[in-house]
Amino acid sequence: MTSSANVPLPGEGVGGTRATAVRAMFDRIAPRYDLLNRVMTLKVDQAWRRRLLRDLAPRDGETLLDLCAGTMDVAGLARRRTPGLRVVGADFSFQMLRRGVEKTGLPASQADAMALPFLPARFDLATVTFGMRNLERYQVGLAELARVLKPGGRLGILEFFRPESAGPRLVHGLYNRLALPVLGRVLSPDPEAYRYLVESMERFASRPEFEAAARRAGFGSVHGETLFPGVCGLVTAVRA
Ligand SMILES: C[S@@+](CC[C@H](N)C(=O)[O-])C[C@H]1O[C@@H](n2cnc3c(N)ncnc32)[C@H](O)[C@@H]1O
Repeated sequence: MTSSANVPLPGEGVGGTRATAVRAMFDRIAPRYDLLNRVMTLKVDQAWRRRLLRDLAPRDGETLLDLCAGTMDVAGLARRRTPGLRVVGADFSFQMLRRGVEKTGLPASQADAMALPFLPARFDLATVTFGMRNLERYQVGLAELARVLKPGGRLGILEFFRPESAGPRLVHGLYNRLALPVLGRVLSPDPEAYRYLVESMERFASRPEFEAAARRAGFGSVHGETLFPGVCGLVTAVRA
């Protein structure tokens, strides 16, 4: 099965073409990304990010990598919550990061999550919000996160995991098929991008599959929770 959008889904690109197309898509939608996020989630997205930070409980003096940081909402919230936290955002889309740096004033690194330009055991904390499902192989992203976190380092993931049971699958399907395409057409200069986002959600791992991959990548104390049935899940874990 191939994507109906022009942006290939994981496994469809050849020789890095997929990553290039995904990066170009995020560069295009960057100017409206925050607005779209707020409207599509009825502003609940920021509450999910705050919940993630409450669970990770960063402390002054610690270092946080916000990976697939986009416009750096998590980085900004983390810094406001914990002023002594050292925060860096990383993303491969220059335009997303540019908006994030303008918004937060925090440092950022244009980097590919599949090959991070950081030394091993560099960070105390890492967050990835709505980024993992975009990676060509999320398992490689998890291995990179395990490499750059210190032993005992905390990881927090928010993601639109593929629902496993019938009720949440129905909610997920209705939202994806009815609400998102309409919002995408009305609000986005690039409706193709929203078709890609819908399809990438439907193809991604379920939360239990993702949790198992995190354990294989070297994480312990893996804990998952549904924040909104059929839509959003939270996974936290500790680098063993
Ligand atoms: C849906 S946005 C999420 C942004 C932000 N974390 C948030 O919570 O709104 C996904 C982000 O992942 C980034 N991304 C996708 N694949 C990536 C990769 N291989 N390396 C780095 N960033 C990537 C995109 O550029 C985009 O900014």
